[in-house]
Amino acid sequence: MVWFTCFAVVGGLMAVVAARPVVRGYGTSGMVYDHFDMEASPELKWLPCFDERQATCALLQVPLDYANPNAGTTNIAFTKWTSYNESTQDILFNPGGPGIGGIGYVNNELQAEYILEVLGSDYNLISFDPRGVNRSGPALSCFPGELARHRPNYTEMAMTAPLSESYMASKAYDEFCTKANAETEAKYAGTVAVTQDMAHFIDLNHAQKGLEGKALLNYYGVSYGTTLGQTFAALFPDRVGRMILASNMDSAEYYTGAYQSSISDTDAAFRSFFEYCHKGGPEQCAFYGNSTTPEEMETRYLAALRSLRESPLIVAEPSDPLLKQPEIITETAVMQWAFRATYEPLTMFPKLARGFAAIENGDGAAFARVVREYPPIQPPKDVFKLIVCIDAHTNYPIKTFQDFLGTREAYIKESHYGGPTVALANLMNCAGVNITPPQSQQFPGFPAAGTQTLTPILFVNNLRDPITPLVSAHKSSARFPGSVVLAQDATGHGASGSRCIDDYTLAYMADASLPPKDTTCQPDVVPFMTISKQ
Ligand SMILES: *[C@@H]1O[C@H](CO)[C@@H](O)[C@H](O)[C@H]1NC(C)=O
Ligand SMILES: *[C@@H]1O[C@H](CO)[C@@H](O)[C@H](O)[C@H]1NC(C)=O
Ligand SMILES: *[C@@H]1O[C@H](CO)[C@@H](O)[C@H](O)[C@H]1NC(C)=O
Ligand SMILES: *[C@@H]1O[C@H](CO)[C@@H](O)[C@H](O)[C@H]1NC(C)=O
Repeated sequence: MVWFTCFAVVGGLMAVVAARPVVRGYGTSGMVYDHFDMEASPELKWLPCFDERQATCALLQVPLDYANPNAGTTNIAFTKWTSYNESTQDILFNPGGPGIGGIGYVNNELQAEYILEVLGSDYNLISFDPRGVNRSGPALSCFPGELARHRPNYTEMAMTAPLSESYMASKAYDEFCTKANAETEAKYAGTVAVTQDMAHFIDLNHAQKGLEGKALLNYYGVSYGTTLGQTFAALFPDRVGRMILASNMDSAEYYTGAYQSSISDTDAAFRSFFEYCHKGGPEQCAFYGNSTTPEEMETRYLAALRSLRESPLIVAEPSDPLLKQPEIITETAVMQWAFRATYEPLTMFPKLARGFAAIENGDGAAFARVVREYPPIQPPKDVFKLIVCIDAHTNYPIKTFQDFLGTREAYIKESHYGGPTVALANLMNCAGVNITPPQSQQFPGFPAAGTQTLTPILFVNNLRDPITPLVSAHKSSARFPGSVVLAQDATGHGASGSRCIDDYTLAYMADASLPPKDTTCQPDVVPFMTISKQ
């Protein structure tokens, strides 16, 4: 079990919607089933796609570097989901990552409608795969070209190896990755380049509709999507039409490649598990046991975890179709899984309760089965690594194993429950990557005096988000005078799912009106209360 820490909503927005399988290839009617089958064009050519009444797709050819026509071109995939109102406005959407594509994330009508419902019928939803992601070029890999066939033979070091070995193995991977990409187009896939594609797209789209005046961007970004939005707003402030940023990253920190403050609410998020479990009661929460307080429950969890340090649990169940290989359940593995579970408390806290109960009972197989039930969406490792490290390029602060150890200590101080996991993933991510984007695609930083956007930004954030804390929303808001932070008294990554948030969102989308300062919404549902025992 190796999670690296990505910034993405994983199902929080639409966990209830089942995806319809997408069939590859052209249909008989010229219907597009996959952007890979489309011919790229420097103009926006929308074709019906996915057999969905509302959907049209385009594959846009863009310059790799808008400042250097000689650099060549690449293709960006877009899907438009038309609102039933056939209105003229569009809103772009990014679900996070970096490395998770919008196209796969919104791939049927139900999912599109689910998002459009909270944005209002005056908008068509446009999802896209940013540069380097899924259907959009350039391809991002640490084994590009003919090296690709060597990847199957490459085995990653387990996260449980001694730290010095893990660190050096990561560094070796990164130095390999850097050299392997010396001649590739990878360096053109940073976040600034994506904002330039967005500006280019809205210009073409505006012109195609025959609209007057300046093309404005309407945008809804979640998680890493908030960095994409904040970057656009800093570079093109007079082109911000509507911008909702939910689950916010401190983007100034993101551009260093190390993000210690991202875990400042992680312990609160984690501890809320015990509180929700306690409120839910023994009927709803499998870990309730005989604890009379949330604190007692936490003590029981820590004791169970400590017992794994001395003696990991063995899983040896060849007759179980889910467990066809021997494995062990370690303290590290449980901590990584539990950290990830706090991203989505409504679906995951009941599973966390069953998983913790299994560990307390010494039942490794039961724990392994719970973990198998819900594998999270992860961006491909190399895509995540390359985008984050290209964005950080020379700013990455960790140059040596000693730097790593020192910073790891600081992470663990910041968060007992998230620090060790995030330090391992984040602080090794760019250890040896050294790829610099062209000058025209380097982020100059947020101006100290702040940036006045044409329309103020609406920031939305949960009070207890394990990877994008409330403080990041406030820091980000301070960089954009006139913006407002709307909070939700909830745990989890991705702030949606309450009538209160939806109403403010609709109002903002309609006429740019903002909620009063310091508004905090209550969620409609909380873990263990409304979801029946699973
Ligand atoms: C890429 O697209 C496919 C098909 O839509 C989807 O299943 C997959 O999750 C996408 N991957 C990423 C990283 O977005
Ligand atoms: C459709 O859009 C128009 C123009 O934005 C708006 O005035 C109208 O209220 C919308 N209709 C519905 C049913 O939402
Ligand atoms: C990688 O593994 C494949 C299949 O097992 C094998 O054919 C190939 O020779 C291996 N390549 C290297 C470089 O070891
Ligand atoms: C509570 O449960 C634990 C473990 O299930 C048990 O060891 C302990 O004796 C119980 N305590 C009480 C007061 O029932």
